[in-house]
Amino acid sequence: MARHLITSAIPYINGIKHLGNLVGSQLPADLCARYLRGRGHEVMFICATDEHGTPAELAAQKAGQPVAEFCAQMHGVQADIARRFGLSFDHFGRSSSQRNQVLTQHFAGQLADNGYIAEVSEKQVYSVDDGRFLPDRYIEGTCPNCGYDKARGDQCENCTKQLDPTDLIDPRSAISGSTNLEVRETKHLYLRQSLLKDQISDWIDSKHDWPILTTSIARKWLNDGDGLQDRGITRDLHWGVPVKRGDQPWPGMEGKVFYVWFDAPIEYIAATAEWADAHGRPDADWRRWWRLDEGAKDVTYTQFMGKDNVPFHTLSFPATIIGSGEPWKMVDYIKSFNYLTYDGGQFSTSQGRGVFMDHALEILPADYWRWWLLSHAPESGDSEFTWDNFQQSVNKDLADVLGNFVSRITKFCRSKFGETIPEGGEYGPEESRLIEALTTRIHAYDGFMAAMEVRKSAAELRAIWVLGNEYLQGAAPWSTFKTDPEKAAMQVRLGLNLIRLYAVLSAPFIPFTADAMLAAMQTDNRDWPDDVATALTALPASHAFTVPEVLFAKISDESREEWQARFQGVRA
Ligand code: MF3
Ligand code: ZN
Repeated sequence: MARHLITSAIPYINGIKHLGNLVGSQLPADLCARYLRGRGHEVMFICATDEHGTPAELAAQKAGQPVAEFCAQMHGVQADIARRFGLSFDHFGRSSSQRNQVLTQHFAGQLADNGYIAEVSEKQVYSVDDGRFLPDRYIEGTCPNCGYDKARGDQCENCTKQLDPTDLIDPRSAISGSTNLEVRETKHLYLRQSLLKDQISDWIDSKHDWPILTTSIARKWLNDGDGLQDRGITRDLHWGVPVKRGDQPWPGMEGKVFYVWFDAPIEYIAATAEWADAHGRPDADWRRWWRLDEGAKDVTYTQFMGKDNVPFHTLSFPATIIGSGEPWKMVDYIKSFNYLTYDGGQFSTSQGRGVFMDHALEILPADYWRWWLLSHAPESGDSEFTWDNFQQSVNKDLADVLGNFVSRITKFCRSKFGETIPEGGEYGPEESRLIEALTTRIHAYDGFMAAMEVRKSAAELRAIWVLGNEYLQGAAPWSTFKTDPEKAAMQVRLGLNLIRLYAVLSAPFIPFTADAMLAAMQTDNRDWPDDVATALTALPASHAFTVPEVLFAKISDESREEWQARFQGVRA
């Protein structure tokens, strides 16, 4: 059995995420973690809240709370929503943790010792009206690359180009809108990434199996030279990891903190240490995931993220790791996603347009969302959420195909044989054909899941459900029963075993429903099928079961219209 380290991009602390955020990182990462655990691998699945930077400061200010208090509270809120969505993190950490502070300062010290840090006196934008230096992302203006007029000083959302605030055309304060901006002198640390260009380029070139979306973004920034310009890694802010050189003070850097994008990815490591702390485990237990010299050589590390995060994970964070000169585990595979759009436009956090995680769970259980999002994951291009499509997908795939299968077979058995699995009868040609078809499809499903082809996996899983319905339709135990009750018993026994098998195969996508199916079948047997025929004998004759509650309720046209109106604009 292999060891898999899985990280999801860590969500900002400043608000509840929308479904587009969810499908771009945490949800597919969870799919992967659940699948690999299901196959019996050892998995460490890590996520955290990204708590530093100005967005946190401003959100706290708006909420009228001290920033540390705000972050602690919002972490709790996000952790609770994640749990209710079935996101099965081994640990959901906090980038403001002591562990991350120590590790971030450690990396900075290593980088400095190895000559990768420069102290630069620079001019920075100061907003006279706001009375503060403006962090890059709080300066807005027009992107010099694509002309988008709401580009931020750190990155253009529209074309993903990493920017410096001084690149912006017509800059203004994003806090107040003021254009009364001055440039003032201040000293900062720069990470000399340009010195690492060849090493990073070779590393990326060695990744032949990465998704095109990941490598194309990485190569673009590498080759344009943009991504690997030396970058400032400190900021004039109060909230963040204090700038220190290891555990030593850093002269001239008093009162400054590290840039949020410097400490955030380090939190992947720190959160694993937080996991150890939370479980009373020794350091060796987290270091075996991260240190090549302490057991991590046999770890496979996969990261999940939206495409706007790719430059930071292919260039900046690797520069931190390589520059440290220490044997830290680097990522093996980066799965990145395009954007999910909402009903003809963008999801918008500021305008409350689209469905946010908390509201989603108010109207429907997690599995409805998980299924739609994963089966429409924006892999090869952007994909669009529409209520029509969502309604169809839920009503057809979940209610008509899977839900109906489970309901028909359990109810029929109860009415004719009672709530235990009936005995008797022999497989015939239909059963052999079903087993053969399932074998082929499950093999394909395994292949797609292992390759993290999310949509293709969903399509294959749906096809596996359809096979059960087709079988039931053809076998028609309700007719067979009249002439050959033994044969009907065999068909029903097979059908009930299919429910268990479907629960096991579907659990990575719809874990809550899978649990309900296993509970109804009164079994804990979650063995992944090696051999389909054997898997279909897991529940023997006379094993008791119950008829589950309706697994999926259909979405009515009225509900669809009501929700469409509710989520189209300005969040309540
Ligand atoms: N908070 C960032 C976002 O939501 C992601 C940070 S990922 C990490 O886009 F690498 F920094 F951890
Ligand atoms: Zn742009």
